[in-house]
Amino acid sequence: MRKVTLFIVIAGFLITACTKKQEKEMKEFQKVSIEDINVSAAKLIGKDWMLITAGKDTASFNTMTASWGCLGYLWEKPVAIVYIRPQRYTKEFVDNNNIFTLSFFDTTYRNALTICGTKSGRDTDKVAEAGITPYNTPAGSVAFEQANMVMECKKLYAMPFNPEFFIDTNIISHIYPDNDFHTIYIAEIINVYRK
Ligand SMILES: Cc1cc2nc3c(=O)[nH]c(=O)nc-3n(C[C@H](O)[C@H](O)[C@H](O)COP(=O)(O)O)c2cc1C
Repeated sequence: MRKVTLFIVIAGFLITACTKKQEKEMKEFQKVSIEDINVSAAKLIGKDWMLITAGKDTASFNTMTASWGCLGYLWEKPVAIVYIRPQRYTKEFVDNNNIFTLSFFDTTYRNALTICGTKSGRDTDKVAEAGITPYNTPAGSVAFEQANMVMECKKLYAMPFNPEFFIDTNIISHIYPDNDFHTIYIAEIINVYRK
C-alpha cells in the first residue's frame, strides 16, 4: 500500500513538473486566430524561411529548414503546404506523426536556420548546435521557444510530385536532376501562437 501511495505521489509530481515546464515554455506565446495574421507567405517562408518540425515529443523529433511553402485556404480549412524531398530525415518524422509544426524566427536566427538547413539530424545534434530550444506543443508536436510564431498543422494529404504531370518540364531538369521529387503535404493549420 505504501509503495502504491509513493508511486502516485511521484507520478503526480512528475506530471505537475512537466505541465509547469510546458506552461513556462509557452508563456510568451499567445494563441491567435489565423484570420488575424496578416502575412505574406512569399516573405514569411520564401525570404525569412521556417523550420518544419515533427515528432512525438522533445525526446524524439527532427527539424529542417524550408523556404518553399504556401499558406492558403482549401477544403473549407486554413492550410499550410510544404514540400519535403525523400532523403530528408525530417520526412520520416512528418510521415509518422499526424501533426507537424512550422516555426518562424526573426532574422537574428538566420545562422540557426542555416545550420538546420545544411546538416542532417541523422548524423548531428543540429538543434543543440543551432542553439535553439525545443518544447512540446499542446497538440502533441514539437516547436521552438525562440520562434516568434508557431503553427500547429494537422496533415490532410500527402503525395510525391509525379513527373508525368509537369506542364513545364524544364522544372524537372532544373530542380529534379536526381529524380528526388518532393512529397507535397497539405495540412490544416489548427493553431497559431505568436509572441
Ligand atoms: C534556405 C533553405 C531552404 C530549404 N528548403 C527546403 C524545402 O522546402 N524542402 C526540402 O526538402 N528541403 C529544404 N531544404 C534542405 C533541408 O533543410 C536540408 O537538407 C536539411 O539538412 C535536412 O535535414 P534532415 O535530414 O535533418 O531532415 C532547405 C535548406 C535551406 C538552407
